[in-house]
Amino acid sequence: RKGNFEHFMQKEIHEQPDSLTMTMRGRLIRGGEQKAKGILLGGLKDYLKTMRRSRRILFIGCGTSYNAALAARPVVEELSGIPVTMEIASDLLDRQGPIYREDTAIFVSQSGETADTLQALEYAKSNGALCVGITNTVGSAIARGTHCGIHLNAGCEIGVASTKAYTSQIAVIVMLALLDKDMKELAALLMDEQSLLVFGRGYNYATALECALKVKEVSLMHAEGIVAGEMKHGPLALVDETLPIIVIATGDASLNKQQSVIQQLKARKGRLIVMCTEGDAEFMCPDRTCRIIEVPKVHDCLQPIINIVPLQLLAYHLTVFRGFNVDQPRNLAKSVTTQ
Ligand code: M6R
Repeated sequence: RKGNFEHFMQKEIHEQPDSLTMTMRGRLIRGGEQKAKGILLGGLKDYLKTMRRSRRILFIGCGTSYNAALAARPVVEELSGIPVTMEIASDLLDRQGPIYREDTAIFVSQSGETADTLQALEYAKSNGALCVGITNTVGSAIARGTHCGIHLNAGCEIGVASTKAYTSQIAVIVMLALLDKDMKELAALLMDEQSLLVFGRGYNYATALECALKVKEVSLMHAEGIVAGEMKHGPLALVDETLPIIVIATGDASLNKQQSVIQQLKARKGRLIVMCTEGDAEFMCPDRTCRIIEVPKVHDCLQPIINIVPLQLLAYHLTVFRGFNVDQPRNLAKSVTTQ
């Protein structure tokens, strides 16, 4: 319905304040003074790591959708540090242009049904690329055919001339470029919590203590590092669906025991964040109910050096989100010269 407007195009041009708001709704992480501090795009979460490791990002579309990607390309290139190339879908198909399995191909389409874009999607998939869809139509062929994606949520666009989809497409691609490290996303989820438990053992008992110390020290959130063998001797009583718990389960001699800790915490519906070595996520949490922090595998005795880094970043981002002074934590001095 056109309401007070004479044409759908006119209506849709005027709808842009609302359509853009809808596109961004629920995707901006608010920090102090309601300023946006980060971005959440849930539809991409299982693929972000692969995207970040891509050798190249290709935007593929037709007409207005191609232009939207072209408009946002500089910010993607600048912020991701990954080379970005542009492809008009029909031209890509005519040339059978090169696409590799190390590429991320992003298909931009309002309708999600454009034949050239859809065919280019099949072509990119057959070449092994990670395929991401940006569409305005839930359940469209491109939304279904891609590995993951983002919906524009711009509302139905009826005018043949694409207007509000164009601005929402740019907004979504800029948000994609602004996505930060996994730890920032995790910090955003945990920023309002009261407390955090960290279970480690063996070489990584110290990692659990140090993570908890960092979180307490700078983010002023209560945190406790616990040797996992003590879990049943008291801490298990704290476990419920709300308390976040990090379990460090990187592949050393204590891996089997940590796996059993994870099972026991899951049985009590614990809210788990599992740190494991790359490629172990499926094995550590087959039902995908845990959040995963993957780290590279190194020699057991060196693993604490690797494991603490994402946890330091978690403490850092928590502090920023909670609005505290990162470099000068409350009541603390760099060197304590009095007893
Ligand atoms: O639905 P799509 O975004 O894939 O459509 C692509 C083009 O056909 C479309 O953007 C076309 O260029 C517009 N109607 C122009 O306003």
